[in-house]
Amino acid sequence: MTRPINDTFLRALMREPTDYTPVWLMRQAGRYLPEYRATRAHAGSFMDLCHNAAFATEVTLQPLARFPLDAAILFSDILTVPDAMGLGLSFAEGEGPRFASPLRTEAAIKALEVPDMEKLGYVFNAVSEIRKALKNKLPLIGFSGSPFTLACYMIEGGGSDDFRHIKGLLFSRPDLLHRILDINARTVTEYLNQQIEHGAQAVMIFDTWGGILSGAAYREFSLAYMRQIVAGLKREHEGERVPVVLFTKGGGQWLTEMADTGCDALGLDWTVDIAQAYALVGSRVGLQGNLDPGALMGSPEGVAAETRRILDAVGTRPGHVFNLGHGISQHAPHDNVRVLVDTVHSHSRALRSS
Ligand code: CP3
Repeated sequence: MTRPINDTFLRALMREPTDYTPVWLMRQAGRYLPEYRATRAHAGSFMDLCHNAAFATEVTLQPLARFPLDAAILFSDILTVPDAMGLGLSFAEGEGPRFASPLRTEAAIKALEVPDMEKLGYVFNAVSEIRKALKNKLPLIGFSGSPFTLACYMIEGGGSDDFRHIKGLLFSRPDLLHRILDINARTVTEYLNQQIEHGAQAVMIFDTWGGILSGAAYREFSLAYMRQIVAGLKREHEGERVPVVLFTKGGGQWLTEMADTGCDALGLDWTVDIAQAYALVGSRVGLQGNLDPGALMGSPEGVAAETRRILDAVGTRPGHVFNLGHGISQHAPHDNVRVLVDTVHSHSRALRSS
């Protein structure tokens, strides 16, 4: 009913045949684009961009105007959720995210609640505005952080090298960590369902830090809560399937268990051999990835060769969405991004006709 005109991305996630391999890039709207830096300078802070639906729409569309990408992703951040829980998010220039009130005491953890979704209304407005601006040309991806990844920022109070606060809690008071994760999972389920209601046509869960855990801890503290979310998501909207993508960075060892959650597709970081991932789970879920983002720092010829290597490993099997294995660097030259996108399209068409 409301299928986008270019539905290649949605078809590939659902493992349906496509004429070519669709491509989008994690963090495709961002500082590597001069037009993003100009809008950001004009808007003020990064969160000012996120709070204003007109700005969020403008930057979402910027990479699509420059490159023939096959999907748009909501311009926002995973940390909107703990901000709505009252932790006080700010982005210090050049330093990354900071929370004014990290969860460091039992009392603070006991006081944590699922926030009123109205506090996240600005995100849902952005979803609606972006859908309108896309005019059904391309599908829109919504997203959230995983409960565990959100908990890392909520407990550490920002980025971390050693995750000592969350690991301390995990190994001394796992009950308290489970309380946070349960609230996060219930919040993320509502948050993603609202994004779907407002027009997100696929959703992705970013588990950026699940890979810092042992296998046992990953199952108990990250995977179990992602499974709970997948079970609670609205999987159809306006008569169309809304695919769910799970991405655990560093999760290459757990692909089979991730596929067992009932998700539609898995994101792969660049350390995973995509042919092996196909052999393990490719008959059950779509696969999204997995160029090393560092390849964009090399020559255009190198970008094209590395892109072809991944496409050749997949061959003509359905179910592949091309992406980076993690977010694009702010230092990536955009000429290399063009080579990447053009190579994905031309080489995947060539493979299908040979
Ligand atoms: O992919 C997209 O284009 C959509 C937008 C998007 C952003 N963040 C915009 C952003 C998405 C999907 C995210 C997710 C996100 N945010 C994750 C999970 C994915 C991942 O990268 O692992 C995480 C861990 C965050 C938290 C976060 N947000 C950090 C650590 C930082 C600072 C890092 C940095 O690059 O400075 C951000 C800020 C942020 N989020 C920027 C953008 C474009 C840079 C903000 C700016 O200075 O303009």
